[in-house]
Amino acid sequence: MLIAQISDCHVVADPDGVRYDVNPAAGLSGAITHLNGLSPRPDVVVLTGDLVEHGTAEEYAVLRDRLQALEIPFLLVRGNHDERDPLVDAFPDHPALGSGGRFVQYAVDHHPLRIVVADSTLPARHDGGFDDERAEWLDHTLAERPDHPTVVAWHHPPIDTGIWWMDAGGLNQGRDVMAEVIGRHPQVERVLCGHQHRSIQAAWAETMVSVCPSTAHQVGLDLLPENEPRFIAEPPACQLHFWHAGQLVTHTSLIGWPAQPQVLDSGQAWHEMLPDRRQRRPLRKG
Ligand SMILES: [Fe+2]
Ligand SMILES: [Fe+2]
Repeated sequence: MLIAQISDCHVVADPDGVRYDVNPAAGLSGAITHLNGLSPRPDVVVLTGDLVEHGTAEEYAVLRDRLQALEIPFLLVRGNHDERDPLVDAFPDHPALGSGGRFVQYAVDHHPLRIVVADSTLPARHDGGFDDERAEWLDHTLAERPDHPTVVAWHHPPIDTGIWWMDAGGLNQGRDVMAEVIGRHPQVERVLCGHQHRSIQAAWAETMVSVCPSTAHQVGLDLLPENEPRFIAEPPACQLHFWHAGQLVTHTSLIGWPAQPQVLDSGQAWHEMLPDRRQRRPLRKG
């Protein structure tokens, strides 16, 4: 199974609108073209929040219009820039979006990897958090299928990345409770997040957190606490989570990068190595 992840599209109502030197709608369309052209084609695309900029119906109409070009089923996650009601209203063909009451939280059970979407947003806040109600929902939901490999997706990464101003606006409530919840469920292969507008990975709560870059503007990689917040015009990218031989491997795929692959010409008969490689099986955590 191949899960593609894109994040932080920040679509605005004006399809020609520009923020931080990037047109978000064009960035999303570029990502869609990239995803549609991947081989093998992903089974599903997970969009990990900040789908639009202001959470308005007009913005979700642009988002929906652009996503119609995506030829792969997709799942939507709520970010701090998203508003629950207009998001749910814009996608009536995604009934799971509205199934979690005032939160956007649901589980998808028809893939080899189960996908559980949680809601890390706080009302009118840039930073995120989980209360007991959402932690209990996730604990209960994960307990339903303890033997099924699972990916959990929510917007705010539960880690400090060293980029001070994004950490200040990170997951500031319920982090320890969520670590206990995730730690109780060893079938969780990955926690997929966005919000940081960079590719970041870290071990956390007996699993791994993987953060996806934005399809629009990226956050500058700056680990110095004295510097001011800044964005940077780095290439957008998606994450490809490849479920293979009992292990989930995450690749970063740059979007719009024009390089063409060149066949390695070393005289090695590569096909003769295939049987040995297929016999190898990576270790799984217990
Ligand atoms: Fe964002
Ligand atoms: Fe965010």
